[in-house]
Amino acid sequence: MRRILFVDDEPMVLDGLRRTLRTMGKEWQMEYATSGREALEILAARVFDVLVTDMRMPGMDGCQLLNHVRELYPHTVRIILSGQSDKEELLKSIEPVHLYLSKPCDAEILKATLARTFAVRHLLENDSLAEVISKIQSLPSLPSLYYEIIDEIRSADGSLARVGDIISKDLGMSAKILQLVNSSFFGLATHISSPAKAVSLLGLETIKALVLGIKIFSGFSSSDLPCYSIATLWDHSLATACLAREIARHLNLTQDEIEDSFLAGLLHDIGKLILLDRLPEACGKIAEVASSTECPVSQAEKKVLGTTHGRIGAYLLGIWGFSESVVNAVAFHHCPGECPNDALSALTAVYLANQCQGKNDPGNINKTVNFDLDYLSKSGIDRIEELLLTCSDPCRLGENGGCEDSFRR
Ligand SMILES: [Fe+2]
Ligand SMILES: [Fe+2]
Repeated sequence: MRRILFVDDEPMVLDGLRRTLRTMGKEWQMEYATSGREALEILAARVFDVLVTDMRMPGMDGCQLLNHVRELYPHTVRIILSGQSDKEELLKSIEPVHLYLSKPCDAEILKATLARTFAVRHLLENDSLAEVISKIQSLPSLPSLYYEIIDEIRSADGSLARVGDIISKDLGMSAKILQLVNSSFFGLATHISSPAKAVSLLGLETIKALVLGIKIFSGFSSSDLPCYSIATLWDHSLATACLAREIARHLNLTQDEIEDSFLAGLLHDIGKLILLDRLPEACGKIAEVASSTECPVSQAEKKVLGTTHGRIGAYLLGIWGFSESVVNAVAFHHCPGECPNDALSALTAVYLANQCQGKNDPGNINKTVNFDLDYLSKSGIDRIEELLLTCSDPCRLGENGGCEDSFRR
């Protein structure tokens, strides 16, 4: 039974939530509090998986409450459910928030978001991930710029041009986006001179994923460990994202799965960033094991931590509310055969792209490229050579990188 605590100073809002979520009563145990103080008393008595709180409340506001919860109960997923008028204030202090939902929130969106948060918790039960997450203390929040874009898209009069304006206000982001979309990664024939043009040419989902990737990668400082090099990891992630999208198209996946393949490709190694930032000593040990035994970093992580960067990244994306397809693609990108679902999916595309981009993967110590033929055959891919050769690799990095070259090894 999963436990959720809802906090709102308006009893009518809590009554509405009770009515909306009544059908989930058999699966979720839900409790309600009308203030931050009452919420902390309830939390002191019982363990909760998720806390959903209003932002503006007399006495202790939502952010103050979540700061306490982050400190005292770091494993509880922290969600803000708040009105539009609180958005500006919230975006300034988003640090303690895992996920932000706007009020009024559609009942189905709320149920689906909570269900996704719980779905990812099964990852914690499989290996030593729970132990590692407990050492990590607090996981990072989604960047506020990402929320601004989502809110613009969801608003009744949202427009692509205004998404471009939002990106333009962040000069660093704007410059980075333009540099990327004009690079060979995207192979566009025309020069793009504004974020608005980039949005209209590459599509909203790609730009959203790039904003997220750029913000996340820029939030971590670089490392002396070559197998955790952030600059190399960024190139590798971008190349994997572009190729995963190309492979997903060739596999005739749905448009949603194609977008998921790009996003998951870009963020598939995010768990490495978390490890590097929060458990640097463990990373040193992992690097040592990887180089002395010449095994891939993910195997060395398993030996040292009992879990992998794939599981850690997937867990984070899950509590950020990303789809199961993205979470699975990240969780199992080194071991697709362990995924409970072996149908063709974003995981297939990300797995293949990551293997093809093995040469620029800082975690691939001996630079070998192998494929799990058993998984691929179960997923219905028998002629892998043909598939990979028909995918033009728009992300060739340097003379020796790239899909075809890696494949022919
Ligand atoms: Fe990886
Ligand atoms: Fe990778």
